[in-house]
Amino acid sequence: MTPEPDTDLLDKVINLAKRRGFIFASAEIYGGFRSTYDYGPLGVNMLRNVKQAWWRSMVQLRDDVVGLDAAILGPPAVWAASGHLATFTDPLVDCRQCHERWREDKIDGVCPNCGGTEFTEARAFNLMFKTQAGPVEGEGATAYLRPETAQGMFTNFLNVLTTSRRRPPFGIAQVGKSFRNEITPQNFVFRTREFEQMEMEFFVAPDEADTWYRYWIQNRYEWYVDLGIGADRLRLHEHAQQDLSHYSRGTTDIEFRYPWGWDELEGVANRGDYDLTQHAHASGAALEYFDAQAGVRYTPYVIEPAAGATRAMMAFLLAAYAEDEVEGDQRTVLRLDWRLSPYQVAVLPLSKKPELEGVSREILSALRPWFMCDFDVTQSIGRRYRRQDEIGTPYCVTVDFASLDDRAVTVRDRDTTSQVRVPIGELVEELRRRMSPT
Ligand code: GAP
Repeated sequence: MTPEPDTDLLDKVINLAKRRGFIFASAEIYGGFRSTYDYGPLGVNMLRNVKQAWWRSMVQLRDDVVGLDAAILGPPAVWAASGHLATFTDPLVDCRQCHERWREDKIDGVCPNCGGTEFTEARAFNLMFKTQAGPVEGEGATAYLRPETAQGMFTNFLNVLTTSRRRPPFGIAQVGKSFRNEITPQNFVFRTREFEQMEMEFFVAPDEADTWYRYWIQNRYEWYVDLGIGADRLRLHEHAQQDLSHYSRGTTDIEFRYPWGWDELEGVANRGDYDLTQHAHASGAALEYFDAQAGVRYTPYVIEPAAGATRAMMAFLLAAYAEDEVEGDQRTVLRLDWRLSPYQVAVLPLSKKPELEGVSREILSALRPWFMCDFDVTQSIGRRYRRQDEIGTPYCVTVDFASLDDRAVTVRDRDTTSQVRVPIGELVEELRRRMSPT
C-alpha cells in the first residue's frame, strides 16, 4: 500500500536546504526573484554529483553515447522548425475576481488566490523567453533561450555523426540550463523558470524504436533506484494518446511520490523522426543516415530520456530525509547515496589542540584527492556528528589523542552510527573500498 503523502516533509526539506546552504532564494536581499533559486556551497556539490552520476551512467560507461554542450541562445528558425514557436504553450486564464493569472489545467476551476470560479477564455501563452542578440533591435536580432536542451542534439546530428565514428543506434547526451516562462512555478525547485536538464537523444533505425523505448524506460528507472530512491516512491505512467506532446509517438513518465502526491520526475519519449524531418525541411540539410551494409537510407527515430537535474536533486533530498533517534537523541539525517552527498568525508579533530589539528590536516591532505571533504573543529563531537548527519556525509573520521600514539582514527558510519578504528596508513584505502563506484 502507498503511504500517505507527508505534507510536512516539503517544509522540512526547504528549511534544511536554506539553513545548511543547499538552496537559497535568488536575490533574497532584494526580496527574491520570481521562483528562481541559487545553489549554495552544499547544493552546488550535490547538484554536480547528480549531473556527474547521470553523465557516468549515460556517457562514461557506454560506447554508444557521446556528449555535447550546445549554445543556450538560438535563432527563431530552430524554434520554428521544432514546433516550439507554434505549440510550446500553456493555457493562460485570468481570474475575473482578483485578476491573478493561472495555468488553466492546474487549478480545477477554482482560483487558488481568492476562490473565484469565473475566468477569462483560455489563451495560448508561449513559454519561451524571447530576447535580442546584438545591439540592434527588431526581427533580425530576435533570439530565444532554449526551453529544452534537446534541439542542440538535433541541429548537431550531422556534426556528431561525421566526427564521432558512431552509427545508429547511438545517442548524444547533454546537461545544461533550460528556461521556460512557466505561468505558475511551484513547489520549490520542482517547477522553476530557470532549471537544468539532463537529456539524451538516442538515434535508432525506425523498426528498433519500440525496443529502445522500453529499454530506456527501464534503464532510467533503475538509475534512480540505484542511487537510493526506494521503488515504493517511483512508478511509471504511460501517457494516453491524446495527452502526447506535439512531437511524441509515445511517452512514459517516471513519477516520484512527492509530498503533494505522484508527479513527473523524468519523461522518456519516442519522438519518431519528427525532429530530424522538421529540421531537414527547414534547413535543407540531409539529416539522414545511410546504412552502407544494408544499402538503405533512412531518417533515424529518436528515443529521448529527458530528466531535470534540479528536479532530480530535489527528489533525492526528499527521499533521503529521515528523522531517527541515536542514543536517546533525536537526529535529522540525509541518507544520501555517497555518490550524491555534498561531502563524502568529514575530518573531525576531537579538540582544537595544535597537535591534533596537525595530524588531522595531514589526513585531510591524503583524503582530498579522492573525496570531497569537510573539516570541522568547532563544538562537541556529538554536535559535529549531528551536523554531518544532517547534510548527508556518509563517513566521519575522528582524530583523538590516542591517534597520536597508535596512528589510528575512528571511522563513523552515518547510517549505522557504528564506529571502527582504522590505521591512518590504511584510511584512504579503507574509505575507497567503502565508496568505490560500480
Ligand atoms: N526534451 C523534452 C523535454 O524537455 P519535458 O518533460 O518538458 O521534456 C524534461 O522536460 C524534464 O525536465 C522534466 O521531466 C523535468 O524533470 C524537467 N523540467 C521540465 N520543466 C521544468 C521546470 N519548469 N522546472 C524544473 N524542471 C523542469
